[in-house]
Amino acid sequence: MKVPFFNYPARYAEDHETIKNIVYQIGTSDDFILKENVLELEEKIRNYTGAKHAIATSNGTSALTIILRAMGVGPGVDVLTPAFSFISTASTIVLLGGRPIFVDVDPLTGMMDPCDLEAKITPQSKVIIPTHLFSVMADMSAIYNIAKKNHLLVLEDSAVSLGARMNGKMAGMLGDVGLYSFFPAKPLGGIGDGAIIVTNNDELGKMCWMLRNHGQDGINRFVHHHLGYNHRMDETVAAYLVHKLSRYDQLLARRSKIGSDYNEAFKDLYPQIQVVNETAYDRVYYTYVLQVENRDNFRQFLHEKGIETQIYYPLALPLQPAFSFLKHQEGDFPVAEGIAKRSIAIPLYAEMPDEHIEYVVQSVLQFVSVVNAHV
Ligand SMILES: Cc1ncc(COP(=O)(O)O)c(C=O)c1O
Repeated sequence: MKVPFFNYPARYAEDHETIKNIVYQIGTSDDFILKENVLELEEKIRNYTGAKHAIATSNGTSALTIILRAMGVGPGVDVLTPAFSFISTASTIVLLGGRPIFVDVDPLTGMMDPCDLEAKITPQSKVIIPTHLFSVMADMSAIYNIAKKNHLLVLEDSAVSLGARMNGKMAGMLGDVGLYSFFPAKPLGGIGDGAIIVTNNDELGKMCWMLRNHGQDGINRFVHHHLGYNHRMDETVAAYLVHKLSRYDQLLARRSKIGSDYNEAFKDLYPQIQVVNETAYDRVYYTYVLQVENRDNFRQFLHEKGIETQIYYPLALPLQPAFSFLKHQEGDFPVAEGIAKRSIAIPLYAEMPDEHIEYVVQSVLQFVSVVNAHV
């Protein structure tokens, strides 16, 4: 059996006609960028999340850039960001001239560790970026309390968590500003890059809105109040997302069913395999990540069974070659470095057939029994 990690053709299968119509209608209209479909998507995301402001952008990385700029990040400003994350949560800080202060992570979830966060705050710190990855969330209550005690802003990187809920609030609405990415692999995947910023903060919302489109105010064209960006969303992307949002909760429910099946099947495999099988919040299963002691052997075992896997992420961020100028050493972030050596994602997507799920479960269990037979 071949079990792919993602299956894009299956994901878009029921939308062929819709996509054809969207591309044809918008491609032959006068309205290509930031027009009625973008406005409709922004309204629908406001309704879905309860956010006061929603600002659609070209991708999640540009959303992070805009938010950090709006928060005043630049030379002389420090931003606290997790040592285990996707590159954007740190590269955007550096590209604006700020300094990333890496924070180690929780050993089970791999998300920002509030104790290390508190220890790392510098006098120049202005922003904290708690990030939610895979299907788990950072401890937002603890992080938000630390932020407010120290007069820091919270940029919640909820790029992969649209629909997750903690303490009765949507992921993305637990800090000062949040964002969701619509990169095709994401739970609400589009037909190209895209993202949206959400906030209840009027001042930050207005600034993000202006920075997205060259610092203009939407009233006086070609009058630029700030040096902004072209980080706008295309109408085709927005129109498809509006369409797909209507069945998003159904897609999440299917992801959640697969995630729960995996949780149940793998909950007793420690110490060979560790999963986060219970949380105090409603999870969105973007990817399903296991921590495996013998990751290379595990990956090879699944490969031989025809099961594709991914490594999210092979290196702790401070040890990425691109950050060598920060002079971090191996051992500076022991938890993040350990997780980077152990974490591996197995297939999980809404259209995944039941027989593939069962086959993945059986293969993982078989690996553990083979390992146990040799100890
Ligand atoms: C946690 C996180 N933040 C930000 C991004 C950036 O989003 P985009 O790919 O839309 O630029 C990603 C993308 O994978 C991500 O996983």
